[in-house]
Amino acid sequence: MNKKITITTQFSVFENFEYLPMDIQNLMEQAIAVRKNAYAPYSKFKVGAALFLDNGKIVLGSNQENAAYPSGLCAERVAVFQAGAVYPDVKILKMAITAASETNKTVAPIPPCGACRQAIAEYEIKQETPIEIYFMGETGSIYKSDSLRNLLPFMFDKNFL
Ligand code: THU
Repeated sequence: MNKKITITTQFSVFENFEYLPMDIQNLMEQAIAVRKNAYAPYSKFKVGAALFLDNGKIVLGSNQENAAYPSGLCAERVAVFQAGAVYPDVKILKMAITAASETNKTVAPIPPCGACRQAIAEYEIKQETPIEIYFMGETGSIYKSDSLRNLLPFMFDKNFL
């Protein structure tokens, strides 16, 4: 007989920026600042990501587009690859993401794309410590996940290889 399985994932909702813990307000402010550096002449959609590492450092990323569209890269992967390149043995503890469009105001939390979830998963598995992920639009509420796992049920990882 067939049976169904149900997977539930959980997020915390912060009604607005002021409700975030102070350290996350600071991290999100850095994501907002670096979002402005996004190179997004094609989509006009700017994304900023800020990582807080276990050594106290903050690593930033913004999306970088290309005339050959698939050659561009999302903000989240710019940030996690930068962290992996510069601090290969340091855990990523927290991540703040914000996205803003020049054509329509983003008021809902904007989650990382599927490819970025897979990339973040690699680091979470490697470091054996969950990454807190906070994401928002330009304004409005912020969603928090205690781990990348909430964003990627049925994650593919090295254990399958
Ligand atoms: N983008 C990100 O930077 N992160 C995401 O998770 C979603 C999309 C970027 C890629 C592209 O430069 C633009 O947003 C529109 O898709």
